Amino acid sequence: MMLDIKGVIFNKSSLGQVLASRRSLFLQRPLSSQAKPRAMDNSNSSSSTSSAANPKVHRLQQLISHHEYSPSGGWEKSWEEGVTPWDIGRPTPVVVHLRQTGALPFGNALVPGCGSGHDVVAMACPERRVVGIDIAEFAIKKAKESFSSLPNANYFTFLKADFFTWRPNELFDLIFDYTFFCAIEPEMRSAWARKIDEMLKPHGELITLMFPVSDHVGGPPYKAAVSDYEEVLHPCGFEAISIVDNDLAIKPRMGNEKLGRWKRSQKSLL
Ligand SMILES: C[S@@+](CC[C@H](N)C(=O)[O-])C[C@H]1O[C@@H](n2cnc3c(N)ncnc32)[C@H](O)[C@@H]1O
Repeated sequence: MMLDIKGVIFNKSSLGQVLASRRSLFLQRPLSSQAKPRAMDNSNSSSSTSSAANPKVHRLQQLISHHEYSPSGGWEKSWEEGVTPWDIGRPTPVVVHLRQTGALPFGNALVPGCGSGHDVVAMACPERRVVGIDIAEFAIKKAKESFSSLPNANYFTFLKADFFTWRPNELFDLIFDYTFFCAIEPEMRSAWARKIDEMLKPHGELITLMFPVSDHVGGPPYKAAVSDYEEVLHPCGFEAISIVDNDLAIKPRMGNEKLGRWKRSQKSLL
């Protein structure tokens, strides 16, 4: 089974073959021979069953591959071209639920790879100041334009920054990752975990909305199974305090998302 970035199931035969690497993903037939791009909102993606039905994901993968030596190049291009198939155009429902039920830590929060910034804005309040960073200038400009006049605008900031090299002035009480882990090259995941470790306060919490929880090959989105997180977070001293299915996932992602909450183990804090 393969998943596209909106959680749509590809069956292997529709791809022609199981692809062994990201590079081989780009050996699929050219975009021009695929179905016309469709809007990527919730309403249209649940019925898609093949990669041809989702040319935006294919285009994203092309852009990232073509700019593989430039950390921001492919993402910038995808934003410029409007190839943002991950973007649901509103806050992630489970984020809203966690905020409304008082289940999100207060203090300083970070959303790496924040994209258009809906989750940043949804979490921001006087008790929780949120920084959203994204490597794409276009995304940050869009987020600022969309949200800077909102009543809670004093409680969030958008910054263009590369997660891996950014040096924040303060540590965070909360880091929330959704579709950032699956966007980066799997080889970068250990560095992702070390950076989380570097930026989180000793008793801070990492919340990962894990997607796509699957065993597919290639990306982005790369597979993001629980074991993929454990593999890089355990060596940094993190352990899961809870991992549950996300019952509030949007329809096309339902069954392929898990909400993970992580803290440093007591042992690692000694
Ligand atoms: C799949 S999108 C997810 C956006 C957002 N989290 C959402 O759920 O809508 C991944 C985002 O990460 C950004 N990104 C990729 N590499 C990055 C990096 N090294 N540092 C910061 N942002 C990065 C991309 O520009 C893109 O906006």
